[in-house]
Amino acid sequence: MARRCCRLRNILICVCTPCCCLTALSIYAIVTISLQVNSMMLGHVPRVSSNLASPHFVAAGASSNGSNPSVPKTFWERHLRSDALWNRLQRHVDRHFNPIVRKEKSDTLLERSSFDESLLPQSYFEVTGMDSVRENFERLPKQVEEFASNMHKRNYSILIRPDGECGAQSKQEKEPPLILFAIKSTALNFRNRQVIRQTWGRVGWVEGQRINSSDGDMGGGYIRRVFLLGKETPEDLGVDISHLLRAESKRHGDILQWDFKDTFFNLTLKDVLFWRWFSRHCGKPLFVLKGDDDVFINTPKLISYLQDQLEEHRSRNTLHEFMVGEVIGSALPNRVSRSKYFIPEGFYRGLYPMYAGGGGVVYSGELARRLHNISKTIHLFPIDDVYVGMCMIRLNAHPVHHPAFRTFDFTEKEEAQPCSYHTILLVHRRSPREVVDLWANLKDTREQCQDVPLRAVEKKKQRATPPPSV
Ligand SMILES: *[C@@H]1O[C@H](CO)[C@@H](O)[C@H](O)[C@H]1NC(C)=O
Ligand SMILES: *[C@@H]1O[C@H](CO)[C@@H](O)[C@H](O)[C@H]1NC(C)=O
Ligand SMILES: *[C@@H]1O[C@H](CO)[C@@H](O)[C@H](O)[C@H]1NC(C)=O
Ligand SMILES: *[C@@H]1O[C@H](CO)[C@@H](O)[C@H](O)[C@H]1NC(C)=O
Ligand SMILES: *[C@@H]1O[C@H](CO)[C@@H](O)[C@H](O)[C@H]1NC(C)=O
Repeated sequence: MARRCCRLRNILICVCTPCCCLTALSIYAIVTISLQVNSMMLGHVPRVSSNLASPHFVAAGASSNGSNPSVPKTFWERHLRSDALWNRLQRHVDRHFNPIVRKEKSDTLLERSSFDESLLPQSYFEVTGMDSVRENFERLPKQVEEFASNMHKRNYSILIRPDGECGAQSKQEKEPPLILFAIKSTALNFRNRQVIRQTWGRVGWVEGQRINSSDGDMGGGYIRRVFLLGKETPEDLGVDISHLLRAESKRHGDILQWDFKDTFFNLTLKDVLFWRWFSRHCGKPLFVLKGDDDVFINTPKLISYLQDQLEEHRSRNTLHEFMVGEVIGSALPNRVSRSKYFIPEGFYRGLYPMYAGGGGVVYSGELARRLHNISKTIHLFPIDDVYVGMCMIRLNAHPVHHPAFRTFDFTEKEEAQPCSYHTILLVHRRSPREVVDLWANLKDTREQCQDVPLRAVEKKKQRATPPPSV
């Protein structure tokens, strides 16, 4: 009996000692993580490791290098301490959502509304009311200052609405549309829009095309379409073309125009206002493609690709965070004052978050609705795709890189290969004329190229070194 007790005690010691150690270790880990979260003042800790592990494209020339040793490792870490205008504004908002100090506002609540929509304008006026900030404001270059003085406004009204409940659609639609093409256009680009309507952006049923030779059933899906426009003033154009747009809208029913000036820095408004419109009017589309009006899209392959993704993400229950495109990681703000992308240090400091190039990106309808909600807690940023990246980080969602999205075009050598356009889903910068030719060519070579697979995800081929850790 005593021997048995002894054995039992040994076993207990063997089992309990590691248990106690583990418990102590866990407590240590929890405290450390809490402190970390606290210092980041965030509801979500970005999954940095999974971030870096996913293959992504690093924009040439935009990545950090040895000459810039103080680049922060992650996006939200450093900017919180900076005095640049955007960083200050966002820090002010983030304090409301500190998960430790204000538990009730953190986490899912942050996403699931219950925050006040006046929060952003309120923080804007509180921060810009400070003398030190006003001085900083006046030193900003003109274009950035113009953005900064309007960045608290986003309730612009709709001037032209599309016909259908959620964009132009075919009358025969018999099942929920697979994809809504939401194309950023400007008033004068009549030809771009017309060519899109006649080629890759035609509404109605589109049959898929195999994306690799082992693919079986092709399936298909319904397409819908909407063009996203701001306003060009008669003063800027010299003529008033609003009646032309109305005629175009009457005829095609695919124009969504808001009452704000259509400038490069106002493009972010097309994201947030599109998300708002989509959340109100579009219960059905499974995916959204948001892109420029000078892209070419291989619609049949996109359909098949998305059917596959639908199946996969539904089975893994991850459709609510699905976004795919050409992913840019570790990009630094452009500090060249002549550039269209110029962001001075006085406005924003820190790395950009990982983001998908705005030339063409696809995400799920569910994600669009979540982006709409989260965007109410993030101040507008002048570069639209970077802003979407900021929203994604907040949702703890990460865009997936796919090499068949060529928002930076492909090389001449790649393009010259037969069937090259059968290997891509989207390519940026094609004139209306080229789009017509490419579309015809895609049809003509369909048989010949039917077994050509999509470009595959490259294996860990990063062009630049990851940013040095701080
Ligand atoms: C490093 O970045 C600086 C600008 O920040 C640039 O002038 C330089 O050419 C870059 N060096 C390399 C090796 O890319
Ligand atoms: C936007 O909101 C402001 C302040 O609440 C209001 O004065 C303005 O009329 C609104 N604009 C539109 C177009 O609704
Ligand atoms: C081919 O497509 C199927 C799904 O249709 C997918 O499961 C498979 O991984 C793909 N194969 C390759 C080599 O990409
Ligand atoms: C954006 O649009 C608003 C409303 O038309 C305008 O007041 C503002 O100047 C525009 N911002 C930029 C940066 O062009
Ligand atoms: C967005 O917020 C609304 C309330 O404003 C909520 O009803 C809805 O469920 C939220 N949507 C998502 C996708 O979280």
